[in-house]
Amino acid sequence: MAGTEIFDSAEIKAVTDVIERKMIHRYGSHAVRNGQYRVDEFEDKVKALTGARYALGVSSGTAALIVALKGIGIQPGDEIITTPFTFIATIEAIVALNAVPILGDIDETLSLDAASVERLITPKTRAIMPVHMFGVAADMDRFTALAKKHNIPVIEDACEVVGGTYKGRCLGTLGKCGTWSFDPNKTLTVGEGGIILTDDEAVYLKMEYYHDHGHVHSKAHDRGADAKSGLGVNYRLSEIQGALGLVALDKMPKALGMLRATKKKILDAVAPTGIKPRPMNDEEGDTATHVIFMMPTAEAAKKFQAATKETGCPCAIIAENTWHYAKHWQALEDMGEKDYFGTKTPSYAPATMAASDAILSRAVMFGLNIIMDEASVNQIITAINAGAKAAL
Ligand SMILES: Cc1ncc(COP(=O)(O)O)c(C=O)c1O
Repeated sequence: MAGTEIFDSAEIKAVTDVIERKMIHRYGSHAVRNGQYRVDEFEDKVKALTGARYALGVSSGTAALIVALKGIGIQPGDEIITTPFTFIATIEAIVALNAVPILGDIDETLSLDAASVERLITPKTRAIMPVHMFGVAADMDRFTALAKKHNIPVIEDACEVVGGTYKGRCLGTLGKCGTWSFDPNKTLTVGEGGIILTDDEAVYLKMEYYHDHGHVHSKAHDRGADAKSGLGVNYRLSEIQGALGLVALDKMPKALGMLRATKKKILDAVAPTGIKPRPMNDEEGDTATHVIFMMPTAEAAKKFQAATKETGCPCAIIAENTWHYAKHWQALEDMGEKDYFGTKTPSYAPATMAASDAILSRAVMFGLNIIMDEASVNQIITAINAGAKAAL
């Protein structure tokens, strides 16, 4: 899964070039950089690939979420509805703006359930944030319809699905803003980095200024003379990351092709067992980073796990995943007790996660690497066969 797997001389060449030119800042030094702007090129390439009108490189996926929320004007106390099955950065980004995360349920696709979102909409709701988890799209048709009906923007956390699609469109381009991550655990990495996609010029400009101290960037004069639009922060991407990003995008088709081929091989091999793969809103667009099956009951999932362990290739049960499931995030507990900008936030309320728990405790999972030899793939197939025999 980690993108460093596919690092080779192309990354060395790209980084060496930036260092040899001693030009690591994305802004300024216009007179001496011979028109070379790697982050600009990276953003342009992302735009060409996704069809988004605007792309902004930032220092991480977390920064991308924070800047996107700032860009759409989120204020303290605003409510943002998202999923209990995500990486905690989704929640942290909301909290960073002193807004209030409201957690819905997930459905069998393991994505935010639009019906649960509709139940949670209040006059304070200012955004809906579906997260495309473990390589797969959330039900974007339903979120788009919901957004239209209630006039609430959708911010797609697409940090885990770079290159994934929904009905032929790139994930991250279907809402008001979408975010990608290129952190060290993603299929494609630049070390640390993120991208925000949007078609909205006004939102883009707000984000562009905010991510770099409010500067109004211009190539007509040097950085010191840039005008100031207001206050901001520093979530800039460097030219080193931009250069790595260009290589990563070149490698994207091959990397996704390899993951998809491995996943297909595994699913084809275990199909005769009758095991049920995680249902998807769009199988074509799956980035194939994970192989997940839905067991009939939580007990069956435990049996499946025990049998896979015996083969030496244990699966995970997603309900036990402390990184990606809000039930385990005790850190949110304090917030639930605070009167948070006049709103008691129900962020940490495991009792309200029963519906999601019932699904995640039946979901068994194997992660895939981009480069996998035949023996490792066969090991997973053997484990799944053993698990299915024990559990189904
Ligand atoms: C769903 C999701 N959102 C946001 C992030 C944050 O991305 P980053 O690690 O680049 O800050 C991650 C990273 O793991 C993620 O999986």
